[in-house]
Amino acid sequence: MRNFCYTQFQKIFIFLIIYILFIPTLSFGNYPYNPYVPIDIWNEVEPYFLPINHPIKKKLDRIFQKKRVTLTEQTFVEAGFKITRLNRPFNAVVTGHKDLKGYLVKVYLDSQFSIPEWQMWLRRIKGIETIQHCLDKHQFTEFILPKKWIYPLPVEPSPPLNEAYSRKNFILVVEDMQILDHKKNAKAYKEMLTPNLLNDLYTILNECGLTDCIWIGNMPFTKGQKITFIDTELFHNGIPEFETLKKYFSDPMKDHLDKLINEKAFHN
Ligand SMILES: Nc1ncnc2c1ncn2[C@@H]1O[C@H](COP(=O)(O)OP(=O)(O)O)[C@@H](O)[C@H]1O
Ligand SMILES: [Mg+2]
Repeated sequence: MRNFCYTQFQKIFIFLIIYILFIPTLSFGNYPYNPYVPIDIWNEVEPYFLPINHPIKKKLDRIFQKKRVTLTEQTFVEAGFKITRLNRPFNAVVTGHKDLKGYLVKVYLDSQFSIPEWQMWLRRIKGIETIQHCLDKHQFTEFILPKKWIYPLPVEPSPPLNEAYSRKNFILVVEDMQILDHKKNAKAYKEMLTPNLLNDLYTILNECGLTDCIWIGNMPFTKGQKITFIDTELFHNGIPEFETLKKYFSDPMKDHLDKLINEKAFHN
């Protein structure tokens, strides 16, 4: 009996130790609150935060806690990010880092204009949810979606308080979908589309209202030969301009798209 009690005690003791050791990594949403963000906005975005126990969370902390990495292009590059779109000042920067293999970040720098970046990131995540729902509903398997999360930047270090900077508090982290480059993607759209694949694509674009996916760079083929939707900012946004999309297709697929458009017009 004495032995049994001792074992029970041991078990409770071990459980408590494990609980104390792992509680910070098991719980979600316990990023420290950032007082620069209104609490209602914080509460709205918190469910979409990168889970605290995600393998790259600590790596992101290591990168962003040392310096104000998102201050300017220079600080960003010095921290190890490869900037690929210097020539587009009005767009967020989408880029990778050697310590974040398999993922990309999407960032507005403090030196860029003021923008409610949390709204942009939330919209992109909701776009993914919308398309995923459509894929599940139709059981489409030829498409693949990146997971996307919001990473709240550490409160400190802060950018200097002056007009040259507009403090950003969140970045977007996405799975790198290993997409084909521009030229190979254009070739894939000419050669890999089949009537069945186009039927499914047409359904997704219409049902989700993906008006920006008339540009194949926003829904490229992956190296694994699936179509992915990487630019999910615009969804439920009306009927896409299929005439623009059509120019990327082979002649038989152009005809097939016309057939789909006519059938839809007939049924409406
Ligand atoms: N999940 C991803 N996987 C691989 N590449 C991506 C991903 N997301 C974005 N990119 C790259 O970044 C570029 C810009 O991303 P996108 O979301 O289309 O931004 P924008 O709204 O500025 O057009 C894409 O054309 C693609 O080359
Ligand atoms: Mg795009």
